[in-house]
Amino acid sequence: MKAMVIDAFGGPEAMHMADIPTPVPASGEVLIRIRATSVNPVEWKIRDGHLSRLFPCSFPLILGWDAAGTVAAMGEGVTGFSPGDRVWSYCRKPDIQWGTYAEYVTMAAESVAPMPAVLSFAQASTIPLVGLTSWQSLFDVGAIRPGQFVLIHAGAGGIGSLAIPLAKWAGATVIATARTVNHDYVRGLGADHVIDYTAQDFVAATKAIAPEGVDMAFGTVGGEVLTRSYAAVRRGGILVSVTDRIDADRAERHGIRVAYVFVAPNGQQLRRLAALVDGGTLRPPEIEEMPLDRAAEALERNKLGHVRGKIVLNVG
Ligand SMILES: NC(=O)c1ccc[n+]([C@@H]2O[C@H](COP(=O)([O-])OP(=O)(O)OC[C@H]3O[C@@H](n4cnc5c(N)ncnc54)[C@H](OP(=O)(O)O)[C@@H]3O)[C@@H](O)[C@H]2O)c1
Repeated sequence: MKAMVIDAFGGPEAMHMADIPTPVPASGEVLIRIRATSVNPVEWKIRDGHLSRLFPCSFPLILGWDAAGTVAAMGEGVTGFSPGDRVWSYCRKPDIQWGTYAEYVTMAAESVAPMPAVLSFAQASTIPLVGLTSWQSLFDVGAIRPGQFVLIHAGAGGIGSLAIPLAKWAGATVIATARTVNHDYVRGLGADHVIDYTAQDFVAATKAIAPEGVDMAFGTVGGEVLTRSYAAVRRGGILVSVTDRIDADRAERHGIRVAYVFVAPNGQQLRRLAALVDGGTLRPPEIEEMPLDRAAEALERNKLGHVRGKIVLNVG
């Protein structure tokens, strides 16, 4: 199969197309013929070697964790799928080697689900990783409830594009941050208030809307933004980080709860997301499509930090 691989950690020059053996599904696994994958920041973080102490990596390594495609074959014991079914998956495995920047990937059947009927492969490939991250952060950990105020950083990004409509669906009032150029996009996702974080102090602007602070802040931007976010949460509220690790002492000083989420594969939650897409509650993010052989360029664009929606890599 064709795959975009790296033979060692490095920059864009480390990525190259290669012909490698197609994986064979083990017992309990589905072999997916990938038609599209999408770019997430974790991919260049892995490529550059920033996460080598967190994840065991083996080379040659295929980057990528999002997949939309069709079932090509099933391993022993797999039921509920047939060859040709249109499926999607967040294909994270304990070892980083067999990713989705490729024509095929194998994945545990319980982490694979039918993709939304109304989406193209390109559109569907944008959702698994960021959709599950949003679901697990807002619902499983944040326990979002109707009437709450939620602050979502990077409203125009991949996570923001899913987290905003999901928080609205849950009945929350959403405050999002984005540069002014992205405000129409973020409002179109359902945000009630949008703060231009380059022009305003987002903590003060948030408190002008929710004077005691928000019930939940979603820490999708790390560093100083995350550190300052503790002050935007009301006492007893929660800060959910998917970027930097949490600071328990700081949380105690502010009287808030904090949690770090590392998204896990979950086929059941993908089925729920698919139902929300097919029912019209969720739409795919804005997308820019590129062929798989331009993956290095796509990662450099993502690394600049201002992609609106997501970049899709069409596998063909
Ligand atoms: N722990 C986990 O399981 C997990 C899962 C998924 C992602 N993540 C992490 O979460 C972070 C966000 O992921 P993502 O996929 O949403 O990234 P992304 O799509 O690449 O985010 C890009 C967006 O960030 C916005 N942005 C940049 N700087 C900002 C700032 N200072 N304040 C507010 N918005 C800002 C940009 O909007 P403007 O142009 O308007 O600035 C842009 O639209 C990444 O660090 C990623 O690695 C973690």
